[in-house]
Amino acid sequence: MSENGILIVGAGGLLGQKLVEVFKRESEYAIVASELSGNNDSLISLDITERQKVMDCVAELRPSVIVNAAAFTDVDRAETERELAYKVNATAVGHLAEAANVFNAKLVHISTDYVFNGQKGNYEENSLPDPLGYYGKTKLAGENLAKAQLEDLAILRTQVLYGFGKGIKKNFVLWVLDKLKEGAGFSVVTDQVGNPTLADELAYAVLKVVERNAKGLYHVSGFDVMSRFEFARKIAAVFGHDPGLISQMTSDKLNQKAKRPMNSSFVCLKAQTELGLKMPTVEDSLTIMKRQMKQAGVIN
Ligand SMILES: NC(=O)c1ccc[n+]([C@@H]2O[C@H](COP(=O)([O-])OP(=O)(O)OC[C@H]3O[C@@H](n4cnc5c(N)ncnc54)[C@H](OP(=O)(O)O)[C@@H]3O)[C@@H](O)[C@H]2O)c1
Repeated sequence: MSENGILIVGAGGLLGQKLVEVFKRESEYAIVASELSGNNDSLISLDITERQKVMDCVAELRPSVIVNAAAFTDVDRAETERELAYKVNATAVGHLAEAANVFNAKLVHISTDYVFNGQKGNYEENSLPDPLGYYGKTKLAGENLAKAQLEDLAILRTQVLYGFGKGIKKNFVLWVLDKLKEGAGFSVVTDQVGNPTLADELAYAVLKVVERNAKGLYHVSGFDVMSRFEFARKIAAVFGHDPGLISQMTSDKLNQKAKRPMNSSFVCLKAQTELGLKMPTVEDSLTIMKRQMKQAGVIN
């Protein structure tokens, strides 16, 4: 790879796909993208939990930037599959940071609002983490392992990530749309509050981090703070469904395995001022996703 080479790890996932799109469209970077399975012809296969494979891959490609979009993202499964969750979200981030350090690359890593306990909301980059569940603990450990090994590091924490992609896991918006299509009423929680974030916008923030050679921790999320219930009603409105199908409930009725932060909303001032980002409103972001789904022929 040239000096302008970027390795995007976890490119089969939602954010990974958006990163490839954004860097292709808006940068001169030579892109190599990897996924776990390697089933996709345009992606190479790389399991980031395998230290030697990570070292060999970075040694061969010599990218100037590595972006890590790979993660064990199933918050409830992380409670029972602890070993794997820790390996992917913590140990493997250490491998990427080590490889970046040895081969002089910058690492951009993605973390989460679940590092906070959600008692007060409005979290800034210097707010004290206190994860409630095992997923949040592994992600915080990943941040710390990377920081311990690498100076040229940027960590972007995000939350309620959604968007449209190929063969991706169902995110909140896709789940709500499926429910709305069924046409029967359903309930959504009012007591989990945060800033929904379109994956395309997060990918764009990563581009800005790379362009400006930014380092350190950034909170990056959508502009609006709302409950999942309010978000679901916005989704219905933007996609032309009946918001009346959605009723209110509280998290205690859900029986979710992992404890979640109730209000993990972010203050994104640092990203706005240092990266020149304008956090979009939820209507604008949902409208972008709707257009993409129309173009792909998934909705009318
Ligand atoms: N989704 C959210 O609401 C949310 C909120 C806050 C922060 N985040 C963070 O945002 C980032 C991107 O999330 P996302 O929603 O785009 O995730 P995603 O769609 O679940 O994608 C994650 C990708 O990582 C891959 N992966 C898992 N284990 C791997 C391994 N050992 N080696 C290489 N790749 C591996 C997965 O492959 P397989 O599918 O084959 O397992 C998947 O393609 C993550 O760091 C996540 O923690 C997400």
